[in-house]
Amino acid sequence: RLFKATLTAKAVRVPLLKDGPTEFWTYNGSLPGPLIDVMEGDTVEITLHNQLSQPTSIHWHGLPVPPSQDGNPQQAIAPGQKITYRFTLPEGSAGTYWYHPHPHEFTAEQASRGLAGGFIVRAKQDPLAGVPERLLILSDLKLDHMGQIAPNNSDDWMNGREGQFVLTNAQNKPTVHFDAGGRERWRIWNANSARYLRLQLPGSQLALIGTDGGLLEHPITGLTEHVLAPGQRIELIVDAGKRRDQGKLIAAVYARGKMGDVAPDKPLDILTVDFSRVATGQVVSLPARLATIKDLGRPVAQKRVVFSEKMTMTNGQHGMQFLVNGKEYDMHRIDLTSRVDEVELWEIVNQSDMDHPFHLHGTQFQVQSREMDGVVKTESYLAWHDTINLKSGETVRIKTVQHWPGIRMFHCHILEHEAVGMMGQLEVV
Ligand code: C2O
Ligand code: CU
Ligand code: CU
Repeated sequence: RLFKATLTAKAVRVPLLKDGPTEFWTYNGSLPGPLIDVMEGDTVEITLHNQLSQPTSIHWHGLPVPPSQDGNPQQAIAPGQKITYRFTLPEGSAGTYWYHPHPHEFTAEQASRGLAGGFIVRAKQDPLAGVPERLLILSDLKLDHMGQIAPNNSDDWMNGREGQFVLTNAQNKPTVHFDAGGRERWRIWNANSARYLRLQLPGSQLALIGTDGGLLEHPITGLTEHVLAPGQRIELIVDAGKRRDQGKLIAAVYARGKMGDVAPDKPLDILTVDFSRVATGQVVSLPARLATIKDLGRPVAQKRVVFSEKMTMTNGQHGMQFLVNGKEYDMHRIDLTSRVDEVELWEIVNQSDMDHPFHLHGTQFQVQSREMDGVVKTESYLAWHDTINLKSGETVRIKTVQHWPGIRMFHCHILEHEAVGMMGQLEVV
């Protein structure tokens, strides 16, 4: 099957909150961008038409697409131009992805102005077919006193930008009505530039069934919360059980080591879940096996990536540099080299005082272990990730493999950090 679409990046004014229209940058005037919902095996052909005042590109976050089709910073198109991306989704790629711009230096600004959309790849055989699905694309919004998208201040550039609102599918604190059948499958995107989402639904336990790149082998049940770092996605099963009340999905306070003199974080209501229409609450048990994940196997090469920060002083102004292996991003420099189809062990080290979500383009990887204060914890289950959080002082070891020659980005997914240079380039040969 061929899926064809055009995404026109353009500014539109949307009366989103009560105080009159806000100018957003959108794909096709839609907030979030149009959902792309396709099947494994499909070929996708999407034309981007740039009607912005800046260069732009579309990056297919998490998807296995060749580097030439992945919207790298080198491949941004000028205002007025068009580009067509074409790729085929392989077997086994079913999962919850997204797309957003990736032009040099403008990714953070364009994403926080509204340019981002969901991308779902469905399996031909889905073990959860028939469970009603809810899509929750969560995105942060920072407005100024005129109700317009505020520019970044120096705290935003240092800690990453957080706004007054966390929207759900571009709505502020909506109420969703839970399915009468008593069970739903939730796909949740953290499309925020920088805000971590420590998600809780007090009164209900959650079952984690999927990560960035698709279903887990087995559900992990009985969870009271899950921390979703910027860029990450999860799939959950939510059961009403005996509830017939109004629940609240909240983002509890998550300490990520913000620097400077910033206001303390407060918990935030994301949305209300109305369970009153649940009729049965008699749910059948979840399938014990959701998917088969093949261990990537023995790595044949190693890489080390170190995140760090450095205080700077220019003209009496304090600033912060965010570094990957001691350097800021340079689009003309190759930082690491890998070979096609070789499994590698990457050791990612966070020497910074702040959490940073590590993201690698073009592939899904597996976490092998996490190390904190000299204690190594082997990951207890297999899962596919493209973005993984590193706490301050933490080391995460991942197994990863690239399938096409070309240039891939790896970076911090706090988008302001990416914009100021917390990014490197991998050349696959
Ligand atoms: Cu979601 Cu390099 O990005
Ligand atoms: Cu990406
Ligand atoms: Cu960062």
